[in-house]
Amino acid sequence: MTKPNILVTRAIFPEVLEQLSQHFTVESNQEDVIMSADEMARRLQGKSGAFMTGTERVDAALLAQCPQLKLCANMSVGYNNFDVAAMTAAGVLGTNAPDVLTETTADFGFALLLATARRVSESEHFLRAGKWTRWSYDLFAGAEVHGTTLGIVGMGRIGQAIAKRAALGFGMRVIYHNRSRLDAATETSFNAHYVSKEELLRTADHVMLVLPYSASSHHTIGAAELALMKPTAILINLARGGIVDDTALAAALRDKRIAAAGLDVFEGEPKVNPALLTVPNVVLTPHIASATIGTRRAMAALAVDNLIGFLLHGKAVTPLNPEALKRTGV
Ligand code: DGY
Repeated sequence: MTKPNILVTRAIFPEVLEQLSQHFTVESNQEDVIMSADEMARRLQGKSGAFMTGTERVDAALLAQCPQLKLCANMSVGYNNFDVAAMTAAGVLGTNAPDVLTETTADFGFALLLATARRVSESEHFLRAGKWTRWSYDLFAGAEVHGTTLGIVGMGRIGQAIAKRAALGFGMRVIYHNRSRLDAATETSFNAHYVSKEELLRTADHVMLVLPYSASSHHTIGAAELALMKPTAILINLARGGIVDDTALAAALRDKRIAAAGLDVFEGEPKVNPALLTVPNVVLTPHIASATIGTRRAMAALAVDNLIGFLLHGKAVTPLNPEALKRTGV
């Protein structure tokens, strides 16, 4: 039987390529060239599947040029790179990689919150620059994390894993806002209280964003929302660029309208709003919340399972738009 052709759009663990090669004829991009839309369409010719990382745009224009494409498998839980409606209309299935990164990403939420509250990056730069001459009572004195109120916007799997850490590990009061309220037993398990977005912003000591990006979550936090927050508050964005208006945030940080921010994701990344680079009270990391070797391997493995499951056996593990199959009769 001829093996289906697939494209691996970005560099990936060599053993993932080896595994894929046992089942598919693989064109890979181990040199990790960032492809233009035209290049992507060219390299997808004759391919029935694509292993993607969540950074490659799949839209109607691309799909129109790739009639043989059946599956785009993201090795990420986020899938805002997919125009899901266009994929469904074209009969192309999308899959993502949920669950396997939940705990690792929640850990990183605390890494960013602690680093920001306790001024870890700022103080390390000070030390490395040879500026540390003596201990003093207020040297890089920061904000408390334990015992404070954490406001979580977006209470999916990652939000809940953060809430657990907050309540059980840091003795925090947890308030949250989400499209839908959790059931009472889940709320009780980490003593979380559902509040409006406005109340959350007004009362939380620290705000963590873990909601998915969509047109409706664009600029969930802008100048008006930042103005509601306490001047001592810290904002953490683990979710996606575009959920925060980075220009408004940089101004709020510069003017000390909020105390600090920890950001793993940015509008238009990998570009970073230059204004954010000039303020000291922000910790910036390059979209690494899920980046442990074990978790990245698990995310890749799930994308592989989706490719094998769907292209060889007709059943994906984590389909996003199963209704696409009605159009193709798969
Ligand atoms: C995800 O899985 O969505 C992470 O942001 C990594 O891309």
